This record gives sequence, structure tokens and C-alpha cells, in this order.
Amino acid sequence: MSRLSATKRIPKYLLKRGVFLIAVIIVIISNTFLFCKLRDIDFPFVLFNRIGYTINGENKVFDEHTIYNYFQSKPIELTEKEKRIKQIVLSRECEYVDLVYTWVNGSDPKHIDSHKKTRMSLQADDISVNRYIPSSFRDLNTLKYSLRSVRQYAPWIKNIFIITANQIPTWFDIENSENVRFISHSDYFHKKSDLPTFNSNSIESNFWNLPIEVSNCFLYLNDDIFFSRPVKQSDYFDENKNFRQSVFLTEYLMGRKAYFLDLYDQYSKAILFSNRALASIWGQDRKRSIPAHGIQVFNRKIWYKMQEEFGAGLEITSSNKFRNITDFQISHLYIQFALRYSKPIIGSDDVLYIQLNNENFDEKLEILKNSRDETNSICLNDGLEFINDDLQKKSDDTFNFLFPIKSNFEK
Ligand SMILES: *[C@@H]1O[C@H](CO)[C@@H](O)[C@H](O)[C@H]1NC(C)=O
Ligand SMILES: *[C@@H]1O[C@H](CO)[C@@H](O)[C@H](O)[C@H]1NC(C)=O
Repeated sequence: MSRLSATKRIPKYLLKRGVFLIAVIIVIISNTFLFCKLRDIDFPFVLFNRIGYTINGENKVFDEHTIYNYFQSKPIELTEKEKRIKQIVLSRECEYVDLVYTWVNGSDPKHIDSHKKTRMSLQADDISVNRYIPSSFRDLNTLKYSLRSVRQYAPWIKNIFIITANQIPTWFDIENSENVRFISHSDYFHKKSDLPTFNSNSIESNFWNLPIEVSNCFLYLNDDIFFSRPVKQSDYFDENKNFRQSVFLTEYLMGRKAYFLDLYDQYSKAILFSNRALASIWGQDRKRSIPAHGIQVFNRKIWYKMQEEFGAGLEITSSNKFRNITDFQISHLYIQFALRYSKPIIGSDDVLYIQLNNENFDEKLEILKNSRDETNSICLNDGLEFINDDLQKKSDDTFNFLFPIKSNFEK
């Protein structure tokens, strides 16, 4: 009864118009949806999100399809010297395994000054993202202890290379450097104008161009990663199988779709962008496993595949002097290339991840102390707001307990 009377109250011509309007809206939405489906674009994404990139210093805003085309068409142009190195690396096999670290001394006044100047010269619109975050630069001397962990648990590593911005740790005796050598960013960055950089993604995006001395097979560690029990070379490269490499994956999968980009953290966004770009160059749209946050296993021949097929992406990441939403996630990309062009052994997430901060300091150090033998590696992510002598001593004590043997290069 009441429904009838309600319809009665609305004039007939209005009702007709209403129905017509709804029909039009449905047609528009469904056609847009179909259009997106056919062109392989996320429906709401095409309406709200466009992606900004700086290419050769120029800011560009792309829709997804332009990005797709862009990635398919731009390999990196090599210099003569780079071509020679590439030819040698591609013609040789792995004979042994090296190890590469990246490290920065964030308390170095020169470094702080350079950070500030670069930030100002870029006039970055979002200063808060680029502000100086002490914890991501200053450290608990983890590099020193990580080096001890290599000697203790992975003595089969041949050479160790530490990539820095021309810095040498004060505790390092360069006269007794043993098998450790330093590489500065300017030694291997393809575009010197991308320097100085304060972005680890940028630093890693140039790994295809490492000096010739670095073995074709190498492990890559951030300075907050440690071996925590004896590991074998075959855990990473199987010598009996022509140095077949392992990759370490988590159980998490991620595709290339994001309906509300804001919900993702920077790391996930970088994986998302990487997946989009991969979908574009390989025409494969699928979910991909997220890498474990531990020891990374690299073969230089795979890196050259990335240089050839993903040059445009690597150049964009290389040019981001600070972490940026347009960064690609380099270890994720590498693993996808390794999966496509070699037959890696799939290892599982074998890293104990400890997130340290000032509140949980004692508790987490205790966990660190008791965590030997549980996993092959430990990542000690330092979210400390400050370090004082007391904290420094506690952390040194814990590390000295875990890794007591000093190397000759330690002052
Ligand atoms: C990120 O990069 C874009 C262009 O690629 C640039 O316009 C923007 O300022 C950068 N953002 C930050 C926070 O550096
Ligand atoms: C970092 O630089 C500061 C300032 O030059 C210095 O005091 C400190 O010892 C350095 N730390 C390391 C580990 O090299």
C-alpha cells in the first residue's frame, strides 16, 4: 500500500527520467569498465592515479599505458668501457663467490652537508619525506660485526667489497685490509649526474655496472644483516650444478593492482610498480612472491639481462636521489629476472627479523643473543631514535658475545 502511494506521488515523467538516467549511468560505468578490462588498466586507478617520473631531469606524468610503452623501448646506452666490462663478464663463469655490502657513515659532517645541499637544490615538494632521518644513517657499528660473522660462518667467501660514498669506517685499518676492498659510488654509477645519492634503491639499481673485479657470483648484504650459523656455499650457489643460484622468497604474493595506493607502504608500492613494469615488458600479469629481507644472491649475467630489458626502469630509480614512490624494488626485480632466465633453487625466508627501538632495546638484544642456530641470518633493523654510550656498550657486548673473533683490519 505505502509503496504504491509513494510511486503515485512522483509524477510519471520524473520517474521515466530517473530510470533513463540510471540506465545511462550503468551504460557509462560498464563501458568504462569494459574499456579498462580490454586495455588491461585498473578501473578506479585510471580515474584517480597517474604516476610521476623524472626522466633526464624532466618531470613527466604518465598514464599507465605510456609507462608500458616507455619500458619496452629504452635500453641503457653503454660507454666503450662499460661494453668491454660487459663482454668480459658475459664470457666468464663463476669460479668463486664474493660478497658486496653497501654502507654509509651518516654522522660524517661532509655527508650531512651534502644531504642538506642536495635536498635544497632539488627543492623537493615533500620535504618531510626527505628530511634527515638519523637512524637510517647512523649505526651501531653493525658492518664491523657483520664482517666478523662472514669470517666466522662463511669463510668460503673470497673477496668482500664495501660500497660507500668515498668513506672508510674509522675502525677499519686500510693497511691491513686483507680481502676487503672499497668501491665508491662514482666507480660504478652509469650516470655520474645521479650522484650524490642518498637512496639505497638508486645505489642498487647500478649493480649491473660493478667493477670487473667483482665475481660473477656474489652475495649482497646490507650492513644490518649477519650470518648467524655456519652456512655453505651451496646454500647460495651450487658448485656441482654450475653455480646454480638460490633465491629466497616469502610466502606473500603481490600483483600489480592497487585500488587505493595510499594504503600501501613505500616498500609495497615499489613492488607494485615493479610488477606493473614487468607485466608490461613480459606481457605477463600475475602475482609474484615478495623477496625475503635477508641475504641476496646475485649473478652478474642476470644483472645484464636487467640492464638490457629494464634499462628505463633502472635509470629512473638511479636518478632518485632520495627514496621515492617511483623507485623500483631492486631485489624483487632481480629475483623475477633470475626466475625467468635461469632455474634458481627456491629457498624459503630464512632470516630472523629484529626490529630494534629504544623501548624494546634490552629485550631485543636478548633475543639476538639467543638466536644463534635458528636461522641462517639475522636482520637487525634499527629504529632507534637515539644512541648513547650505555646503549652502544650493551649492543657491543651482545655482538662481541656472538662474534668474538676480530679481523686484522679492525683497529
Ligand atoms: C619523487 O620523484 C618525482 C619525480 O620522479 C619528483 O617530482 C618528486 O619530487 C619526488 N618526491 C620526493 C619526495 O623526492
Ligand atoms: C663517522 O663519522 C664520524 C664523524 O667524522 C666519526 O666520528 C665516526 O667515527 C665515523 N664512524 C665510522 C663507523 O666510521
